[in-house]
Amino acid sequence: MVNGVTAGIDAGGTLCKIAMQTEKGWVYQSFPTKQIQKCISWLDTYCAHRCLCITGGKASMIREKLKRSDYTLIPEFSASCAGARELLAAEGHADLSDFILTNVGTGTSINHVKGMTQEWMGGTGVGGGTILGLSGLLTGVYNYSTLIQYAEHGKRDLIDLTVARIYEGEKPPIPGDLTASNFGAVSDEAASPSSADQIASVIGLVAETVTSLSVLAAQKADVKTIVYIGSSFVNNSLLRKIVTRYSGQWGFVPIIPQYGSFCGAVGAALTK
Ligand SMILES: Nc1ncnc2c1ncn2[C@@H]1O[C@H](COP(=O)(O)OP(=O)(O)OP(=O)(O)O)[C@@H](O)[C@H]1O
Ligand SMILES: [Mg+2]
Repeated sequence: MVNGVTAGIDAGGTLCKIAMQTEKGWVYQSFPTKQIQKCISWLDTYCAHRCLCITGGKASMIREKLKRSDYTLIPEFSASCAGARELLAAEGHADLSDFILTNVGTGTSINHVKGMTQEWMGGTGVGGGTILGLSGLLTGVYNYSTLIQYAEHGKRDLIDLTVARIYEGEKPPIPGDLTASNFGAVSDEAASPSSADQIASVIGLVAETVTSLSVLAAQKADVKTIVYIGSSFVNNSLLRKIVTRYSGQWGFVPIIPQYGSFCGAVGAALTK
């Protein structure tokens, strides 16, 4: 391991992400925040000679458990914005300097990134934690990998009401395939949706909520591009699909970087 080089740690409400720059590129690792001791052991083994730059809401928890004092705390939003710039450049978007950055973590935060500055524009409590929690309540499935596998086969029409279904054959004033009401088709007379359908609709609710807010932020900031990051997109093809399509429908260019869940960790590593 290289002396004097940093490792970035983004300790979030659900997952603790680590990013280390090596000669072969970035190395990534993540642990459930509930299993923080595993994360600490990993850091002791692989990052003993690296300076640690820590960010995220659980940064203090990591700091308290580390048996060392050579760490730096980095503010969460500046870390995720710095990491987004780095990962976007690595994916061929080096010229992108003015965009909305929507981080769909446990909750969702929205920043306007302009050059080297960033401004927090708001957010919502609807995020990845909602996917886990609401899907779990509805279906009893709480495991993330299982949930997103279910969602692949889910259909939303028994649960969600589109604009076209409300207008029933009339010409609607807005695109008919937009969701008029998430969960609005549910009633005691309607057919019972499967677990897969319920999970797909929860993901739909999260996707459409975070996209709607991001679109409003993009309109306010007068930018064309919305960059979506956060572990909620990991292997979640339904979330990606809805966010991509819905952003496009509003005339914005969505980008979901491949390693977007590590923006905070990468940014922290680079901030030292
Ligand atoms: N292995 C996993 N276990 C649990 N959730 C996962 C996993 N992989 C992806 N997720 C999804 O990612 C979400 C967490 O995303 P992320 O790691 O970006 O948030 P966080 O940084 O922990 O939270 P916050 O930034 O809000 O404090 C979860 O709520 C879940 O929807
Ligand atoms: Mg986070």
